[in-house]
Amino acid sequence: MYIQTRDLTKKYKSRTKDGKAFVAVDSVCLDIPPGQTVGLLGESGSGKSTMGQMVTGLIKPSSGQILCDGQELSYPIKGRARQKIQILFQHPEISFNPVLPLIKSMTEPYRLCHKDASESVVLEDIEKFGLHREHLYRTPRELSGGELQRAALARILVLEPELIVLDEPTSMLDVISQAQIIHFLIDYQALHKTSYLFITHNHKLAEMVCRKIYHMENGRCES
Ligand SMILES: Nc1ncnc2c1ncn2[C@@H]1O[C@H](COP(=O)(O)OP(=O)(O)OP(=O)(O)O)[C@@H](O)[C@H]1O
Ligand SMILES: [Mg+2]
Repeated sequence: MYIQTRDLTKKYKSRTKDGKAFVAVDSVCLDIPPGQTVGLLGESGSGKSTMGQMVTGLIKPSSGQILCDGQELSYPIKGRARQKIQILFQHPEISFNPVLPLIKSMTEPYRLCHKDASESVVLEDIEKFGLHREHLYRTPRELSGGELQRAALARILVLEPELIVLDEPTSMLDVISQAQIIHFLIDYQALHKTSYLFITHNHKLAEMVCRKIYHMENGRCES
């Protein structure tokens, strides 16, 4: 899956009196070739998450295009692309219902793809991430940040994504959990040719893992 954006723009409606729209992302062109990791760096507020959420189809662009293998994706994204473009958030709690035990949230993607959602299958998948049966019967609040992030990643992978937007997925984690997730993602990419849009503040990490790096500043972007 080759994702490209062309002059992608997001204006947020201002709630202030002057009523002027705020341009969070301004005419951004990104190329994310299949099987590659592309970095998106920039200061807080520069528009990185807004960009990631438009590419994932979570928010509607104000103008511009998102192309998938040359075909324009319209909002809301439908069909195969909807399943194959996934996002991992900085705060994994967002992806889980806070009152349900993990097993309930974990089985959703299996059902969506008509896969066997029995406990033993889910267990096998989460064990790859160092999680165990007892974790499945806890609510998100009863898990550590690192455990929940690994569960979030396991859940996304059930859908066999071709592009994962990684929105600072390790910035809340300790060094060991960070390294575990990054190494897993690198190995997974080598095997499955998944592409990543890696959003981060961490220049060193970006230089280590990214083939190409884009820099955002006040909604504008350059490579
Ligand atoms: N729903 C919204 N309504 C209005 N303004 C918004 C909305 N979401 C984000 N913004 C603004 O758009 C700008 C870009 O936000 P965004 O979250 O994309 O930044 P970011 O680069 O991801 O920052 P960080 O590194 O802190 O996560 C910010 O100024 C933010 O306040
Ligand atoms: Mg952000």
